[in-house]
Amino acid sequence: MDLEKKVIVWTEELSTGIEWQDFQHKEFLELTNSVFDSFYENKGKIDFEKTIDELERYAKQHFSIEDRYMALFEFPGTKDHQKQHEEFWAFIEDIKIASKRNILEAGRICNKLNNWFVDHIKVVDKKLGRFLQVKSQR
Ligand SMILES: [Fe+2]
Ligand SMILES: [Fe+2]
Repeated sequence: MDLEKKVIVWTEELSTGIEWQDFQHKEFLELTNSVFDSFYENKGKIDFEKTIDELERYAKQHFSIEDRYMALFEFPGTKDHQKQHEEFWAFIEDIKIASKRNILEAGRICNKLNNWFVDHIKVVDKKLGRFLQVKSQR
C-alpha cells in the first residue's frame, strides 16, 4: 500500500468541555478510522459497506444531537455549524464513489475526512461547547 493512513488519536486538545460531545467524538473518530481500514487492513475482514453505514448512522445521530442543543439554547452560530456538517456528507459521497473505482483515492479522501473532522472539533464544536458550558452555569 502506498498511502499512509493519517492516524488521529483523540487527545485533551480536542475536548470541547462537554462530556457527551467528547464521548461521541471519540466514537466518531474510531468509525472514520475503520472506514480507512476497510480499504487497507484485514483485507476482506472489515466490510466497507457495513463500516460506512455505521459511520453514516453515527454521524446523523451526532449531528442531530448538536442541532437539538443549538436550537434549545438558540446558539448564534447554528447556520455556520450546520453548513460544516453538510461538508461531511460530501466527503461520504466522494468516498463511496471512489471506493468503486480507486481504493487509493478513497483512502486519500478518508484522510481528508479525518482532517476535516479534527478542524471541525477544534473550531466549531469547541465554540458550541464553550457556549453550552456558559449556558449550563446560569
Ligand atoms: Fe461534533
Ligand atoms: Fe459539529
